[in-house]
Amino acid sequence: MQKLTAINASSCARLHLKCLPEDFLASLGYKFLYSLYKSMLQLDDISAWGIFYKSELTGFVIGISDSSTMTIRILRKNFKELVLWLTFKLIVNPLIIFNLLDTLFYSSRQPHKCESELLFIGVSEKWRRNEVGNRLIEQLFRDFKQKGIKCFSVNVYQKNLRANLFYQKLNGKLIGEFYLYHQHWNSYLFKF
Ligand SMILES: CC(C)(COP(=O)(O)OP(=O)(O)OC[C@H]1O[C@@H](n2cnc3c(N)ncnc32)[C@H](O)[C@@H]1OP(=O)(O)O)[C@@H](O)C(=O)NCCC(=O)NCCS
Repeated sequence: MQKLTAINASSCARLHLKCLPEDFLASLGYKFLYSLYKSMLQLDDISAWGIFYKSELTGFVIGISDSSTMTIRILRKNFKELVLWLTFKLIVNPLIIFNLLDTLFYSSRQPHKCESELLFIGVSEKWRRNEVGNRLIEQLFRDFKQKGIKCFSVNVYQKNLRANLFYQKLNGKLIGEFYLYHQHWNSYLFKF
């Protein structure tokens, strides 16, 4: 298990694309995701851990202590690059403006007041059902606890059955549903 930094942004972006190819963020492409992870992994309150096999990232988890201010802080870290890729995508498909606006108001959609959040967990396909996900999330639990965090949430597409079962097995409490990026989402809460 290794703590991830901005150096790992490329591996994270690639694994994200493989794990959730239908995700809105993935639809913005590798270059955007790379810039996003590069910025995110520089934030002070990020907890990011990865498991490598022969120097290849096989799974990673990323959580944040304060997700309410996250979007603006990510943009501040790497404004030019992120806006460049977004502008390019907007020219190709102007309709993504609605999803981008949804992203800006993302935290206001959440059906709870817990500021900490698990943002992404992904395990490469050939390593799934081998406890990699469990190990990653246990590491995130330890990290959050050490930071004095009492609860965190995670949001997942309702249609992502695998991940819903994963969070349920970990005793995540389903606390609400919301609609974002033209999809229905479940929100789970974990308390320590
Ligand atoms: C969700 C994900 C991270 C789970 O990782 P994993 O390494 O396969 O999970 P684990 O092996 O630690 O499984 C832990 C438990 O979760 C449940 N689970 C995980 N995958 C499951 C599946 N495909 N079907 C049913 N239950 C599943 C099981 O209860 C499992 O325990 P068990 O194997 O003892 O029955 C992985 O499937 C993944 O990367 N999915 C794509 C990305 C994604 O959807 N991320 C979540 C949204 S942010």
